[in-house]
Amino acid sequence: MKKICFLVLLATSLFTFANKPVYDIYPKQEPIRRSISVDGNRISIYSKNVQQLRHIVFAADTHLAISDERENDFKQYSARMADAYRITKHFRTGKEMTTRQAFLETINHSKKSNADLLVLCGDIINFPSEAAVEWCRQKLDSAQVNYSYTAGNHDWHYEGMSGSSIDLRDKWISERLMPLYPKSADPLMYYIDVKDVRVLMIDNSVYEILPRQLAFLQEQIKTGKPLLICMHIPLYAEGRSVGYGCGNPNWNANTDPGYKTERRLPWPEKGHSKTTYKFREEILNAKNVLAVFCGHIHAETVDMIGNTPQFVTQMNGTGAYYDIYIYPEM
Ligand SMILES: [Fe+2]
Repeated sequence: MKKICFLVLLATSLFTFANKPVYDIYPKQEPIRRSISVDGNRISIYSKNVQQLRHIVFAADTHLAISDERENDFKQYSARMADAYRITKHFRTGKEMTTRQAFLETINHSKKSNADLLVLCGDIINFPSEAAVEWCRQKLDSAQVNYSYTAGNHDWHYEGMSGSSIDLRDKWISERLMPLYPKSADPLMYYIDVKDVRVLMIDNSVYEILPRQLAFLQEQIKTGKPLLICMHIPLYAEGRSVGYGCGNPNWNANTDPGYKTERRLPWPEKGHSKTTYKFREEILNAKNVLAVFCGHIHAETVDMIGNTPQFVTQMNGTGAYYDIYIYPEM
């Protein structure tokens, strides 16, 4: 009798299973973002995991060249960049402007629009002069805007100085750039919570990712919180240039276009470390990444890498920025 009951139960289950629509049998994981809309430099992200509207201004590549007499001993390392991007053209009006005007306009916009956070995502300054760091701090402090900062490949770079990129980054971050980071933050990786949205600031300005940065990312993915990932250098996207250099299989000493001009060591012969590839893979496989935001390319681009959107901003030296609005799903 027991055997008959079991067989009836099994047959009923199989029948039910076979007739169920696929979406009932394999329920989809609820996506962290339901849709994204782009209107000019305004990006709207809709997410069920966000309770209240959030507004983040994202800027990178201001390329400020500011120095004073304290730079005299470093002129042999900063001469080229001290002259770079002196005059730019405004991203909207096309009128000539300075990078200082662009930076102030962006701060002003963040302030006036009551943004929750202004993200400064690298290459804000052309080389690590004390005067540039002080000028930025003073302008940000007097405007009283909430901001976060991570370095780009120029902020800490003195051209022609000997040493590896990783060592020179450590040296100049600790000796010059520290006033730009939040107190007690690890400059290579930290987060800022904008209510329920977690903004990750990850320094990939040497194109490579360190093991402890990978561990940090993995930890953040595990939290399940909606993540906005901000880093200077974009992730590799198919068909893009080698500038999309984080986890790029074409990135190596033979493809390095700038080491002679920038007077630095060429990229490694063998290309990226396994850690860097893994870092990219982890971002692309994560279910709680709202989007990735980067600079470095100096052009506005959008890529859908697998299911992950990546936005690259036009250079802030032209006044450009992204207005990111994160909406609770309506
Ligand atoms: Fe740049």
